Order: sequence, then C-alpha cells, then structure tokens
Amino acid sequence: MADHASERPQQSGAAPILVASNRGPVSFRTEDDGSLSLRRGGGGLVSGLSAIDDPNAVWVCAALSDADRTAARQAPDGRLDLAGHDVGGQAVRMLDIDPETFARAYNGVANSTLWFVHHLLYQTPVQPAFDAGFRTEWAAYRAYNAAFAEALAAEAAPGAAVLVQDYHLSLAPALLRDLRPDLRIGHFSHTPWAPPEYYRLLPDDVAAAVLEGILGADRAAFLTRRWALAFADCCEAVLGAEVDRSALTVTHGGRTTRLGVHGLGADAEFLRERAHRPDVDERLAALREAVGDRRTIVRVDRTELSKNIVRGLLAYRHLLRTRPEWLGNVVHIAFAYPSRTDLAEYRDYTAAVQRVAEEINAEFGTADWQPLILHVNDDFPRSLAAYRLADVALVNPIRDGMNLVAKEVPVVSDHGCALVLSREAGAYAELADDAITVNPYDVIATADALAEALAMPPAERTDRTKRLAAAATALPPQQWFLDQLDALRQT
Ligand code: F6P
Repeated sequence: MADHASERPQQSGAAPILVASNRGPVSFRTEDDGSLSLRRGGGGLVSGLSAIDDPNAVWVCAALSDADRTAARQAPDGRLDLAGHDVGGQAVRMLDIDPETFARAYNGVANSTLWFVHHLLYQTPVQPAFDAGFRTEWAAYRAYNAAFAEALAAEAAPGAAVLVQDYHLSLAPALLRDLRPDLRIGHFSHTPWAPPEYYRLLPDDVAAAVLEGILGADRAAFLTRRWALAFADCCEAVLGAEVDRSALTVTHGGRTTRLGVHGLGADAEFLRERAHRPDVDERLAALREAVGDRRTIVRVDRTELSKNIVRGLLAYRHLLRTRPEWLGNVVHIAFAYPSRTDLAEYRDYTAAVQRVAEEINAEFGTADWQPLILHVNDDFPRSLAAYRLADVALVNPIRDGMNLVAKEVPVVSDHGCALVLSREAGAYAELADDAITVNPYDVIATADALAEALAMPPAERTDRTKRLAAAATALPPQQWFLDQLDALRQT
C-alpha cells in the first residue's frame, strides 16, 4: 500500500475496479490517548482482493463504529489515508452513514430479517411480524443502499467493474445501474438463498425489491449451485421472471442477469504459514496440556444461530451418555467467538450455549477430566492451534453459505482429522465424499457421526484429510476473486 499511495489519483471517478461491502478491510479503535489505531480485517474477500495490484482500485465500506466514523470524517474525499498500512493495495472509502440509519439497516433488515430468511431461522409461530417498526428499518436499508450506490457512482471510471457483496447491499446494484448504466456490476451472495416458500415470508414489495435490486447486476453469483438455483426459483415465483436453469440466467423487465457459482476455498498458503508461528505453538502447547492424551472433537464458530452450536453440544452429551467407553477419553473443544451482540437473539443464544456446556461438565466431569472446554472470546491463533490438534472437526450448521472452517481444518491439521459435516453447509457440495455427513437437526445421528469419526482408523483419516484439503483449496481466494472479475468483464 505504501508503495502505491503517492501514485493514487486524487480525483473521483478513476477507479477501474471497485468492491462494496458492509464490513471493510480495515477498522479503527480509539486508544486511551485519544488517537486512532487501525486493524486489518481477515476473510476471503480481503485475501481475494489482494490479487488486484491496481493503485486505482477502491473498496467502499461502511463505518461500523464511532472510531471508524471519526476516521471517515478525517479522510480527504472520504478516502482513508492508509499509507504505511498493509491493507492489500487498494484505497478504502469508508461511508459515514448516520448511526441510526446504519443500525436500522444492519441490525434490523440485514441481520434480523434477510439473514433470518436465508438461514431459515425464524420461530414462525411468533416471528416474523412485519409492522410499522419494520417499515422504518426498511426505509433505512434503502437509504443505506443508496449511499453505497452514490459513492460507487462517484468513484467509478467509465465502464468500471463493480463487485457488490452480500445481503446488506441487495438494492445497490439496481440503484447503481440507474446512476451509471455504463458500469459492469456484479453481486455476490456469501449466504445461502432461501427456498421460495420461505422467502415469501417477506412482505411482497420487499421480496420483489430485494430480487430486483440484485437483478440490477449483470451477474449475480453464489457460493454453490444450490443457492444460485434457489435465487432463480424465487425470481420465478415472486417476479414471474423467465429462468433458464441450464444456462443459469434470469430474464426480467427486458434485462438478463447471468448467475455464477464460485465456491470460495481456503487460503492454504496463508493458513499453513500462520498456523506455525510462535503464538500458535504456545496455544497448542496449552491445549495439549489441558487435553492430555485424550481424543479431541473441535468446533470453531462465530456464536451464530445458524451454526447450530447447541445441538452440537447435545449430540456430544448423547455420545457421552450412550458410549461409556469415551468417558474420560475425549475432550470437546468449542470456541464460539462473539458476533452481532447488539441483537438479543444472539445474546440469548450465547447464554444457551454456556448453559448446556455447564450442564455437560457438571454431569460428566471428574477431578481429572473436563469433558468440554468452551471459550466465548475471539483468539485466532488459539483457533488455529485447535485446528492443528483436532482428531474430529464438528461443522453442523442448520444452513450455511459455505463454512470455511470445514475447509480450513483439513489444511491445517497436524495428523489428519475426521470431518463431521452438515449436509446444509455450502461446503457439503465439495467435501461430502470424504466427510461424515449429518442432518443438523438430528442430535442422535450427529452423536453417531461423532462416534464414527472418533473411531476412524488413522490411515483412513489421513487419506480422507488429504483429499479434503485438496478439495478445500481448489479455488483459493485470489483466484475466486479474479474468476468473478473475468466473468463480469465478459458479460
Ligand atoms: O456470511 C456473510 C457474512 O457477511 C460473512 O462474510 C461474515 O463472516 C459474516 O457474515 C460476519 O458478519 P458481520 O459482518 O455481521 O460480523
């Protein structure tokens, strides 16, 4: 970044490649002395975009905290001054959206409504109830999407490629097309897509607006074919759009949008290097000390309703209740780091996870054996240490766009790891052959799968892990990003 900073043009409208996402590649914190410090974020998109070595590329994101807002306000033309910080090569424009509007759009619509719809999370006898409060949130979501569309329109060079990310920004493609019909616009969904009968829980106008917003793009891409087809099904059912399932196109209102499938893979190079640094080794030693020579079942998730952590714990409890040979001989390591704590559902869910964990330790723990180690704070090197140590990895989401943990563990594992994988995770499409697959709602079947995984012969485990790692790394983040860019330019 430092190398390019001086070459960066000052005027707007010069970016040939743009990315837009709610969460950007950097965030800020206010230190005790009042100064701002910068942190670089992780994830597939950050790694993917590092493939672009174009000093004119721009990443547009939202300010998520007060410190972010201060940084955004101090930035010339809204662009952060990232000189000297390794953030991967592109300029970042952080949008200082009014905090109330942001909260209504992010918490109210994106995370409490669209996320719930796509992950099938509602308790439908009582939720959702789309009332006047929701209409206020929906107006905020439109304003938030409009702010992104305007910023992108101002930054983009003629004919530029714009890659809009995720359910936060489902309206932005159509809004941007109205402002700048010359642009090539792509949208990528990192989530699953709901089947039409569930999607139609949304108010009719909202259901249509979200689909028409995404159809404003030239390409709408997904992590698996299953989610792409679900989107097409919704376009047909809600909009009466014309769908070609073999060509993967949706035609509506005289325009055709191509659907794409890009199964984001794990970043093997980064993971293997990062997982062998001293901070990981230290944590691995501490975990080994706690576990002794017992087998380990590892899970690492955001504390997220869709990750199905509670049923995973119930399955472990069932395993201990029904297979006494494992008493004293296995430890379940569960790292569930905080997420979306502004939402009551997530706070309650974290409490439920902690409650079941305490029950398990109270029921089975002995003076020299703690059957379950649960941590609810974030520690990336500790997660990597657990990946290295795992005999079994448990990935049992109710529904998940991809689930990168399922792909990362086989890559990092020191001595091979059996993978218990939900058939509702996007990763199932690529990893099912060498995983032990489960219906995530079936606690007893999940316990059976854990028992089978714990008993897997070492040679079979090694072979399967090699094949899992190969499948998991087939499309590294940089190639994943470049493929989308190439496909968009060809539309
Ligand atoms: O899966 C969608 C997604 O946006 C991911 O890209 C990300 O890991 C996750 O949700 C985190 O969400 P948030 O930005 O709300 O913490």
